[in-house]
Amino acid sequence: MSIVLGIETTCDETAASIVVDGKKILSNVVFSQIETHREFGGVFPELACRKHADVLIPVIEEAIQVAGIKKTDIELISVASRPGLMGALLIGLSTAKALAYALKIPYVGVNHIEAHLYAAQMHLDNPPLPAIGLIVSGGHTSLLKMENLGAYTFLGNTLDDAVGEAFDKTARLLDLPYPGGPEIEKLAKLGDKSKVFFKPGRIKEKPFHFSFSGLKTQVLYAMKKNPNRADVAASFQETACIDLVSKSLLALEKFSLNTIYIGGGVSNNRRLREIFEEKKPSDVTIFWPEIGLSLDNAAMIAGLGYHVYKEKKCSDPFDLTPMPTNRLQF
Ligand code: KG4
Ligand code: ZN
Repeated sequence: MSIVLGIETTCDETAASIVVDGKKILSNVVFSQIETHREFGGVFPELACRKHADVLIPVIEEAIQVAGIKKTDIELISVASRPGLMGALLIGLSTAKALAYALKIPYVGVNHIEAHLYAAQMHLDNPPLPAIGLIVSGGHTSLLKMENLGAYTFLGNTLDDAVGEAFDKTARLLDLPYPGGPEIEKLAKLGDKSKVFFKPGRIKEKPFHFSFSGLKTQVLYAMKKNPNRADVAASFQETACIDLVSKSLLALEKFSLNTIYIGGGVSNNRRLREIFEEKKPSDVTIFWPEIGLSLDNAAMIAGLGYHVYKEKKCSDPFDLTPMPTNRLQF
């Protein structure tokens, strides 16, 4: 099963991709719904579902066309079936089932979070394992130990906001548009991170868990003193990134590992990459997703699906149900 169609509709990106042998990306089409959600300052679930329903088939057709293949060349369909917005998942999964049924080919449902980590391995021939995995997206912030593809131990999660969500909410407090991550990064370049002081979230006796809602509240209070917004952006970004880096390095040390894979939209942040490079011991290697694979996309879904199918050797049943909130299970 080497030619795989990937489908991604877990949140506010409608995406389809054709990938060969889990690696070679022939097309990676992403229809971003940012314009639809911007006026709400975040994802409006009902509108996300409607948009997926409108554009998914055209997006799939474009992925097939750009890849230069025929529909009938597709050998496997891989769809993100968990976690995500329930309605949004249903549209991707139902479409995948209908296509698999019509084309008489197998399909598999894969985990979107696992796919974010696969994105950081996709370009490697033999990804070093075991390793630590860090997922930093709009919906998830998790640290885990990766034994092998599909075999993970969760070390920590966010107990409230995901780090991308914290960037988005802080951006709103700073009057910046959605999505806030790139906007904060831009503004932070003009600021002085030492002018305002923020503390990262710490959870007693849970060194690998995260909490970002307190950081956001500190920004809210800081803004009442009318500070320079760029200084606030710089200090917020620095505090959030140092928190991610220090907990990841602690996990590497605790498990005597020297490889880390990082995935999710916040992995686009240049300052996060700089701090990781500055602070990591010299024997530690960090793998980041290649261009186009950090934010939600279907190439990572197709790539992972290739391996999932190889392992299970059968199609998922047609009564597979999407799972909106299985952050802790794979
Ligand atoms: O992985 P992703 O596309 O979607 C989810 O699975 O949630 O991540 C989207 C998140 C948003 O919260 C966005 O603000 C954040 O990634 N993001 C960034 C940057 N680019 C995107 N956060 C910080 N710095 C960036 N450069
Ligand atoms: Zn994602």
